[in-house]
Amino acid sequence: MSQAVTPTQREIFFDPDSFIVSKTDLKGRLTYTNKIFCDIAGYTEKELIGQPHSTIRHPDMPRAVFKLLWDSIQDGREVFAYVKNMARNGDHYWVFAHVTPSYDNAMQVCGFHSNRRVPKRDVVEKVITPLYADLIRVEASFRNAKEGLGASYQHLLKTATASKASYDEFVFSL
Ligand SMILES: Cc1cc2nc3c(=O)[nH]c(=O)nc-3n(C[C@H](O)[C@H](O)[C@H](O)COP(=O)(O)O)c2cc1C
Repeated sequence: MSQAVTPTQREIFFDPDSFIVSKTDLKGRLTYTNKIFCDIAGYTEKELIGQPHSTIRHPDMPRAVFKLLWDSIQDGREVFAYVKNMARNGDHYWVFAHVTPSYDNAMQVCGFHSNRRVPKRDVVEKVITPLYADLIRVEASFRNAKEGLGASYQHLLKTATASKASYDEFVFSL
């Protein structure tokens, strides 16, 4: 289903009482999407199941945020993050996401689960949009992608810990 989608930079919104839910396997391929996920992203559940979660990735999202996400959940920890996602037609929607490992009966991680709600508007505009733009700039300023990601990740952690003790405290202080 991979089609090139061009961002429109037009924002779309969802109901503040709703949660956008998805589940993935260990590699981040979608195994479940709720109706609002499908409705806002513009795909049917059938089209999404089995596809990588990056199907809805927006190019304005820094790679460092996804490193933080994957490092956390692969380490068995939950993570919270502001994410700009892209719909099928190139429109975008901001979410505040909680991502967590799922465990089977033997207490082994068998996949991942995410619930997303409407984010705080002033935080998206005043803190996250400029921070993510900085991270993207850092990532693009290195010829070597791995070095760019490393520098951007450090920038993210430094920003988060500038006034707080950890990334988690930072994201909840916003
Ligand atoms: C449970 C779960 C939820 C995720 N939610 C999103 C999401 O809403 N948007 C997104 O772009 N990536 C999400 N990701 C991260 C993607 O798997 C992927 O790392 C990201 O889109 C970057 O893709 P890329 O490295 O191929 O560019 C999620 C991953 C997991 C495991």
